[in-house]
Amino acid sequence: MSHRIGIIGGDGIGPEVIAEGLKVISATGVKLETITYDLGGARYGRDGTVLPDEVIEEWRDLDALYLGAVGTPELPPGLIERGLLLKMRFALDLYVNLRPFTYEENNIDFSVVRENTEGSYAGEGGVLRQGTANEIATQGSVNTRMGVERCIRFAFDLAARRRGHLTLVHKTNVLTFAGDLWERTFNEVADEYPEVETAYNHVDAACIYFVQSPEQYDVIVTDNLFGDILTDLGGAISGGIGMAASANLNPSRTGPSMFEPVHGSAPDIAGQGVANPTAAILSGAMMLDFLGENHAAHRIKEVCADPEVQVQGTAAIGDAIAERVS
Ligand code: IPM
Ligand code: MN
Repeated sequence: MSHRIGIIGGDGIGPEVIAEGLKVISATGVKLETITYDLGGARYGRDGTVLPDEVIEEWRDLDALYLGAVGTPELPPGLIERGLLLKMRFALDLYVNLRPFTYEENNIDFSVVRENTEGSYAGEGGVLRQGTANEIATQGSVNTRMGVERCIRFAFDLAARRRGHLTLVHKTNVLTFAGDLWERTFNEVADEYPEVETAYNHVDAACIYFVQSPEQYDVIVTDNLFGDILTDLGGAISGGIGMAASANLNPSRTGPSMFEPVHGSAPDIAGQGVANPTAAILSGAMMLDFLGENHAAHRIKEVCADPEVQVQGTAAIGDAIAERVS
């Protein structure tokens, strides 16, 4: 059986690292039928296409999407990020952004469950009197009971399958409206999971604990923006952002989920063959896990944790991993 996967290499180092991910998956023997989509800043620069609705409709029949990175420095910030990446997350209802971190050296083995369709990413707000001395800009954070609850439930389920510990990260001492909704929902769902021990950290304190005592975490659940920031830090403390994988999940499986490294398109090192493809390869492993190819996924993760595969160069790392998984 082969899985039908949409491939969006994207911009910068995106296509380079995705090529290695596909190389490694193929080495495991798992068969993919790939359909390549030329999307991202470069494509926009050529013909003004960002993400047509027909393409999203086509994606609905796929088993998964595998994305490198999108964004080019010459375009206005947000154009591709909002128009492509966020549109994808919203249109396909990829409401959980799951970002696992493991790093033996620092005793790190935790997963961040980042809410992926709401918060300050929702696009609420606007600008008045732009460019004048009286300009006003607002950017709200949208938190629905439904959106918060489904994300928190996913996190409790995950914690119950792991070491049984879940930490809510927010800023309830300042963001009292959103924080209260998150905290109440968290506590109510917690009653259904007596086997999961819970904790709460303010996001600023969590930044300290990430650096000083990351071994205390098993699963973390948090809102979209806090999750974005914390997971870059998560990458930095667990071997570098070149190792950080992510899964944008539609857990109800009403459409394809999307798998991408946490890092961006890194235009400064694009085309040099020096980007670390491990994050993309591990995101590929998360994709295989979600597709039920658990044996191949496990093997990839095991090999990626071996420091010996961290040689020099994008293709060389891909080769080292591919050789060991086959
Ligand atoms: C990420 C990225 C995106 C985000 C950007 C590119 C829109 O930083 O996936 O973490 O903020 O979600
Ligand atoms: Mn980010």
